[in-house]
Amino acid sequence: MTISQEQFRVGLENLPRFKLSHLNTPLEPLDRLRQSLIDEGVPVPNRMLVKRDDTTGLAFGGNKGRHFEFEIAHVLEGGFNTVININHYHSNQARFIAAGCAKAGLKYHIVSTDMVNAPMTGNLLLCKLMGANIHRTPAEYGRQVAEKIFAEEEEAGRKPYILPNDPFADVMGMIGFLEAGLELEQQFADAGVEGPVRFWGLKGRSIAGLRLYAKNRYLNWQTTACQYSSGKVEDFQKATADRASQVVEMFDLEHSLESDDLQILEDYRGPAYGVLDDRVIEAIQMVGKAEGLILDPNYTGKAMAGLIGELRAGRIDPEVTIVFIHSGGLPQLFAHADKFVD
Ligand SMILES: Cc1ncc(COP(=O)(O)O)c(C=O)c1O
Repeated sequence: MTISQEQFRVGLENLPRFKLSHLNTPLEPLDRLRQSLIDEGVPVPNRMLVKRDDTTGLAFGGNKGRHFEFEIAHVLEGGFNTVININHYHSNQARFIAAGCAKAGLKYHIVSTDMVNAPMTGNLLLCKLMGANIHRTPAEYGRQVAEKIFAEEEEAGRKPYILPNDPFADVMGMIGFLEAGLELEQQFADAGVEGPVRFWGLKGRSIAGLRLYAKNRYLNWQTTACQYSSGKVEDFQKATADRASQVVEMFDLEHSLESDDLQILEDYRGPAYGVLDDRVIEAIQMVGKAEGLILDPNYTGKAMAGLIGELRAGRIDPEVTIVFIHSGGLPQLFAHADKFVD
């Protein structure tokens, strides 16, 4: 039985929420990119679109603008007044929590792991501007540093919250994208998109949330998720199935996610997380020149390299409408500036 849009809406309305984002985000054509590919002799689908989740607004925007509306509300509901996060130098999540904490009047510590001597630019610079307390440390000490901050904050009479310890932080990303599903159904109706759709994005909670929405609405929406770092596909599939079953329970849905629900492409992840190859550089330049659209080297550039690569290889059904999910991540482009300058 199809789950109604109303059921999703009511489920979302029942969750505490702290407004951070400009929603709905636009759905736009990628006609000039499509034309550039046609000019190369590449077989392309009739329609290529982009869901502009880079335009959520706050702190340069991104998919996590959707996620953290639920997370910040959850922290406030728990009566916490200090958030401690552990994340990588390149982390967009670190930036969004800084923004959310600033807006909600929460104290924020980011334990920024790895690349401890890399310049203070991109996301980390923005964290600093938004009042974050930054602690840089090699990854193996991240947890230890966070526990120490936790103890100090408690001793000072504050109520700290270590974000990676809370399972809610894993499901809110999927929940945020149930709402993107609602938006997209309406946008497809307005734009006359009929027939099969393939969403193209990155391996993570967002695209999984979208697939969960589609599966429970019996929509002909398939998903391709490109990997951007090492990490076993099976581990992701297991984590996704666990998260999905929690969301199924929360929203009283019919279907959870199985391992074959998302197509996962490993070929475009490059040498490592935060390390790009030539295909990513080409994809970012090509989309910039064709569309005036900026992608980032750690995430969306890898997904776009995947889309262009699979189109060139003739592996995408021309009957589908491709919808590229632009999930943001732009500030970190500047940490890679040297790779784009001849
Ligand atoms: C810009 C961007 N896109 C996509 C992802 C994929 O993960 P998720 O969907 O869980 O946010 C990330 C993860 O950090 C990200 O920063």
